[in-house]
Amino acid sequence: MAGNWKMFKTAQQTREYLREFLPLVETVEGREIVICPPYPSLPAAVEMTAPSKVGVGGQNLHWVAEGAYTGEVSAQMLAAAGCRWVIIGHSERRQYFGETDENVRKKTEAAIEAGLTPIVCVGETLDQREAGLTEEVLLTQFAGGMKGLNPDHFARVTVAYEPVWAIGTGKTATPEMAEEAHRIIRRQAELHYGGAAAAGLRILYGGSVKPGNAPALMAKADIDGVLVGGASLDAKDFAQIVKA
Ligand code: PGA
Repeated sequence: MAGNWKMFKTAQQTREYLREFLPLVETVEGREIVICPPYPSLPAAVEMTAPSKVGVGGQNLHWVAEGAYTGEVSAQMLAAAGCRWVIIGHSERRQYFGETDENVRKKTEAAIEAGLTPIVCVGETLDQREAGLTEEVLLTQFAGGMKGLNPDHFARVTVAYEPVWAIGTGKTATPEMAEEAHRIIRRQAELHYGGAAAAGLRILYGGSVKPGNAPALMAKADIDGVLVGGASLDAKDFAQIVKA
């Protein structure tokens, strides 16, 4: 159950949020909970969540460990800051920052080598869905972003299916639509990495997840968790989603 805070919350707002959120999820069992704040808020998040089961992640990284790459942050730096997770290939990064499948693959490798768990995002746009290209897009993104990982590395990957048309729009994929896409992704995992790897792969759904629709999504066999944007910014809403 991961919260993608995008470009929201200063360090102080992060502390205020966690003072409210942590007690609400203290007794939750059988769920891994992760928040992904902006870089400057990571130290506050790591410090406040240290005594809890809540993990912290970055929202992006550069695949090189260090170097002359102004504005970039490496996997090693995230790990050293106390992150255990990182979101890779989010559609906003693909749309606004030129993220490619090739970069996604390099970032995924770098994250795993630094000991982070990558949450690799895939998903089709509305035009692609309406043109009947959903499966093709998922196959291309899976092949481009994850093909070539060795099986041990693939076992460390979490995938997030996020239909672009459902992100921040209030339009959620129906649980059936999400389940269908998750099955396509799991089939790809099976084809490339075998049945055990496919069964063990965690696939999160993301796109306008709210307390009201989370239970129906989570009830689906192939939906293992959620990646929540807007609703994860509210401590009560995210706590309710975590318990769905
Ligand atoms: P949303 O965002 O929940 O606000 O639709 C999801 C995401 O972008 O990860």
